[in-house]
Amino acid sequence: MSLFDVYPINDIAIVKAKGSYVWDEKGEQYLDLYGGHAVISIGHTHPHWVKRIEEQLEKIAFYSNSVKIPLQHQLAEKLGQFSGKPDYQLFLINSGAEAAENALKLASFHNGRKKIIAFSKSFHGRTSLAVAVTDNKSYSAPVNETDNVIFLPFNDEAALTECFRKTGKEISSVIIEGIQGVGGINVAENSFLQKIRALCDEYGAVYIADSVQCGYGRSGKFFSHDFAGVNADIYTMAKGMGNGFPVAGILIAPHIKAKHFQLGTTFGGNHLACAAALAVLEVIESEKLLGNAVTTGHYLKEQLKAIPELQNVRGRGLMIGFDVPEELKDLKKNLLWKQKIFTGEAKPNVIRLLPSLALRKRDAEHFIEAVKEEIAAILTGVSVE
Ligand SMILES: Cc1ncc(COP(=O)(O)O)c(C=O)c1O
Repeated sequence: MSLFDVYPINDIAIVKAKGSYVWDEKGEQYLDLYGGHAVISIGHTHPHWVKRIEEQLEKIAFYSNSVKIPLQHQLAEKLGQFSGKPDYQLFLINSGAEAAENALKLASFHNGRKKIIAFSKSFHGRTSLAVAVTDNKSYSAPVNETDNVIFLPFNDEAALTECFRKTGKEISSVIIEGIQGVGGINVAENSFLQKIRALCDEYGAVYIADSVQCGYGRSGKFFSHDFAGVNADIYTMAKGMGNGFPVAGILIAPHIKAKHFQLGTTFGGNHLACAAALAVLEVIESEKLLGNAVTTGHYLKEQLKAIPELQNVRGRGLMIGFDVPEELKDLKKNLLWKQKIFTGEAKPNVIRLLPSLALRKRDAEHFIEAVKEEIAAILTGVSVE
C-alpha cells in the first residue's frame, strides 16, 4: 500500500530528537527552529515529559469521557492559573481544527446565529467549518462552500465596524489568530482586537481567539491576544499544548453555559493526553519558558533586523517572520541542506521561526551566523561548504 501523497516532503527521516536538535538516520544533526510546525514547546523528548507519559502509560492510557478523569480537572486548574483565566471552562479535543470546529459550533449554539467573520490570510484548519473560515480556496472542497462566512481585511477596523453596522445581529462569532502563522506572521493590532471585543459586546457575538499556533507562551504571553488587554470568549489551543502528543482544547468564558451532548469526543481528554499536557505546563513554569521566549525572541529579532538584506522582520516572542528578497530565494533551502537548520516558511517569500520556547541563546547565535554566511555565499556565488 502506498501513502496518500498530499505532502511535499523533505528527503530526511528524523530518527532521534533532544531539546532543539534532531538527528537523521545517518546521524546528521540539525538545529530545529521549526519545531515540527510550532508543536515543540518545551523541547524534544524533554525528560520530565517522557517520565510523566511513561508513568501514566503504566497506570492507564485511555478511558472514555463516560467516567471521571481527575487528570482533566488538574489540567483545567493549571490552565486557569497559567492563562490568568481561572473562571473559564475547559473542553478537550485532539487537534487545532477540532478546536476551531468546536469553538465556532459552540458560539452558534450559544447565540443561535449563523454568520461568522474571518479575515484575509487566515488559517484555522482543514475540517468543514475550520476550512470554511480559512482564507485559501484551494483547501476547500465544493462541499465546504457556505454563505455563512464573511471575509474581511485583517487589521481593518473600518471594514469590521461597517460589517457589524450592516449585519451585526446575524453575526455569531468573529475568529482571529493573534499572530497569523500560515498567513506569514502577521500580528493583529491591539486596537483591532479591542475593536472586535467592543463590537462583539455591542452586538452579542462571540469573540474566538485562535491560539493554536500563537498561543501557549509562544509570543511571550500565554495567549498572544492578551497583548490587547481584553479577553476573548473562547480560546482555541493545540500545537504546543502536548509538545508533540496530540492534545487540544478550548477555553470557554463563564457566561457560555454547557449542555449535555452539545459537544463530545471519544479520544479528547484521555489520561495520556492530560499527562502530556500537564508535563508541558509544569516545564513551562519551572524553566520560566515564557521569559525565555521574550529574551531569546528579542535577541533573534534584533539580530535579524541588523541584516540589511532581510526585510520586514516581525513577530512576537519566538514566533518570528521575515521577508526574503527574490535574489535570496534559496536561503531557506541552503539553511536546511548546507547549515543543517530547519526553519518554516510561508508563501511566497517568508521564513518563519517557530522553535522550542527553550531555545538557548547560543543556538540563536549559531542561526544568525548561519544566515549571514548563507546570504554572503548566495550574493558572492561562493559556496560555504
Ligand atoms: C492558527 C491555526 N489554527 C488551526 C490550525 C489547525 O491545527 P491542526 O493542524 O492541529 O488541525 C493550525 C495549523 O497549522 C493553525 O496554525
